[in-house]
Amino acid sequence: MKSPEQVPSRYYLTTPIYYVNARPHLGHAYSTIVCDAIARRKRALGIDTWFLTGTDEHGQKIERSAALAGRTPAEFATAISGEFRGLWDQLGLTYDDFIRTTEERHKRGVQHLFAVLRDKGFIYKGSYTGQYCVSDEAWVDVPAGAPCPDCGRMTETVTEENYFFKLSAFERRLLEFYEANPSFMGPESTRREVISFVRSGLKDLSVSRTSFSWGIPVPGDEKHVVYVWLDALANYITALGYGSDDPADQARFQKFWPADMHLIGKEISRFHCVYWPAFLMAAGIEPPRSVRANGWLLFDQGKMSKSRGNIVRAETVQAILGADALRYFLLREIPFGQDGSFSFDALVQRYNADLANGYGNLVSRVVNMVHKYFGGVVPETGAATAAETALRDTTVNAIAAFGPAFDELNFSEALKALWILVAETDGYLTANAPWKKPPERSDEDHAKHQARVLATAGEAIRIITALVYPILPDSAAKVWLQLGQGDIAEAAKSAFLTDVAWGGLKAGTKFGAPSPLFPRAEKDAVDHMQNLEDENNRTVIEAASQRGDAAPSAPEAPSSALSIEPAPAAASPSVVSVQPGAGGAAVHGQNERGDHHLTQATAAPVDSESQVESIPVEPIAAELASGRLSVTPTNAPEGAPLHPAAPPQAAQHISIDDFVKVDLRVAQILVAERVPKADKLLRLEVDLGYEKRQILAGIAQFYEPEKLIGRKIVIVANLAPRKMRGLESNGMLLAASLPDGAPVLAGFLEDVPLGARLK
Ligand code: MSP
Repeated sequence: MKSPEQVPSRYYLTTPIYYVNARPHLGHAYSTIVCDAIARRKRALGIDTWFLTGTDEHGQKIERSAALAGRTPAEFATAISGEFRGLWDQLGLTYDDFIRTTEERHKRGVQHLFAVLRDKGFIYKGSYTGQYCVSDEAWVDVPAGAPCPDCGRMTETVTEENYFFKLSAFERRLLEFYEANPSFMGPESTRREVISFVRSGLKDLSVSRTSFSWGIPVPGDEKHVVYVWLDALANYITALGYGSDDPADQARFQKFWPADMHLIGKEISRFHCVYWPAFLMAAGIEPPRSVRANGWLLFDQGKMSKSRGNIVRAETVQAILGADALRYFLLREIPFGQDGSFSFDALVQRYNADLANGYGNLVSRVVNMVHKYFGGVVPETGAATAAETALRDTTVNAIAAFGPAFDELNFSEALKALWILVAETDGYLTANAPWKKPPERSDEDHAKHQARVLATAGEAIRIITALVYPILPDSAAKVWLQLGQGDIAEAAKSAFLTDVAWGGLKAGTKFGAPSPLFPRAEKDAVDHMQNLEDENNRTVIEAASQRGDAAPSAPEAPSSALSIEPAPAAASPSVVSVQPGAGGAAVHGQNERGDHHLTQATAAPVDSESQVESIPVEPIAAELASGRLSVTPTNAPEGAPLHPAAPPQAAQHISIDDFVKVDLRVAQILVAERVPKADKLLRLEVDLGYEKRQILAGIAQFYEPEKLIGRKIVIVANLAPRKMRGLESNGMLLAASLPDGAPVLAGFLEDVPLGARLK
């Protein structure tokens, strides 16, 4: 590796590339937002930065998801990749390049890499029988019929003639590499895990597949496609121009490789810290400088993931609170590297405490008073008293703490340090009350007092704003204008924002007009976000049903047959519990987005206790639609996790009152037939004893209609009717979901009368 003196002033960072088997959710947005914040700070430090993201589009998992949706893999991948890119744009993420592994530039680079590895003798042909986990796209060392030790899904026995990579030859080299580069991987838990994996012995790795075709053909042996992880990892170099003859591509590769940081989720450490450096070493390419693993975003106690059905979309939060609020929450609430729980309550609480009542309110108070008392022009500060000196010292401490913490990826600590300054500035303002003239103070002295206090508070805000820009880019841009500092994007092109020192707010600076930053969120903001999620789920169901099929996004949507799966696996021991933030007084601007869930702040401090307790009790149908009752779609391609059910946590409990809202009844199937032009739908007529009704169920791929006639099943009888393909569906079937997503209808061993209620 190059020594620090030789390291040019450039920075290359990457997100993992996202599988296109389902639409983006907050878990995906998390890594990308973290990278965006880092990229913005690096640029603000004056460093020539390249930020890459993209989508991982090959492999069996995508091929199957596409088939399930009735699309070609290419169409399917294009649609979902577009959703990822569109969302990153909507969130204002400043990636420099977005790579799709189906692009020609990538294919060319991967084939080049494969050929180099083969020419250098690190790839040979052999035959292999083993257990393959399609969900993880990985061979796993378990007996036939056993689930994947990583994700719990069922493995498949696969025998193939494959190309193998001589991974075993890199055991010692990798261990030496880790030893010589202690900062190569982190956090410490990842480092320990990876080293112990390598120490336990490395077997050669199969790097091609023949049983499916959705991939990059092996050069010279086109019945093989390149193993999806070799294909995917190579994106980090192909995007820069590896394998291209174009001098501009070659120059970019020379300039930015090796990557400074691959930011990844903790479950893909082995691929990035073992296989990737080994591939690169074998090809004679320098390994990346560091790999950093983030923890998981948990929702309702489980990893947020489409197969669990417990996802929240970034769009929902953005629509109600704005993208900056989401960024702030993710970086402040979750110590990087650990798992962290997401909840709408915690989000709203943190937003109100730190942004609406905290920073936003502080800016609004100071900017408004400078306008009111000084016509919007920064006054001369005058001689400092002990109070100004104390605030200056706090500011100096915040500056000293923020940068190193941020650069160590301790975003939460960096923000904590900055918010100490927010609180101190707020306290300074309150203690010195420039709006209040004591009778004994002369007008002249009062004017001086006001000038000193407002100029000093303004300076503290300037520094907070400069530093927080990478995390709150839109809000910082607004504040920068209000402080009369101009376009923050321009300031961010040099080290101006990061090299801040006390005393930069000059007397005579003309402030811009005050504009609202973070309108206070009312309590119904939580319900509103939840409703948006539920609404989205319903839209996806409708869309899928209209087609009688799955939309690109449909693998994550509940179909009209429900399945019951074990509850999500227990949360990791390093789960962060959500702490209410500190409240503060607020007098605050109007609702800019015109949303009635955001209103003027009141002067009351945030009632954090009551907000923590106020987890809304949703109607049961919404619980079902949002997946919070561990109900997954029967058409989920990845199947259900096989972990034993975790003991329910307090927040997951529903009351008996909630449960009895679901009217589960025994019914008998009288008629079952396919719905024309809908591959997945069956039209059933069922008898409940007291009435007959029609139900549409997405089980056509798994059940022959004729064989269903006469069968007694369980239905949700009081589900609101909905139309699919022009037909009304009145209820929902209950089924267990097998690991491959196949449903097994619930039934009884004893005879039960029609219409009997399940309690
Ligand atoms: N395609 C591979 C990565 C290849 S990189 C050469 C992949 N894709 S993924 O879509 O399954 O995951 C992409 C990233 O999103 C991973 O880093 C994963 O950890 C992250 N997340 C997905 N769900 C997440 C949470 N609930 N929380 C945090 N990150 C999560 O793996």
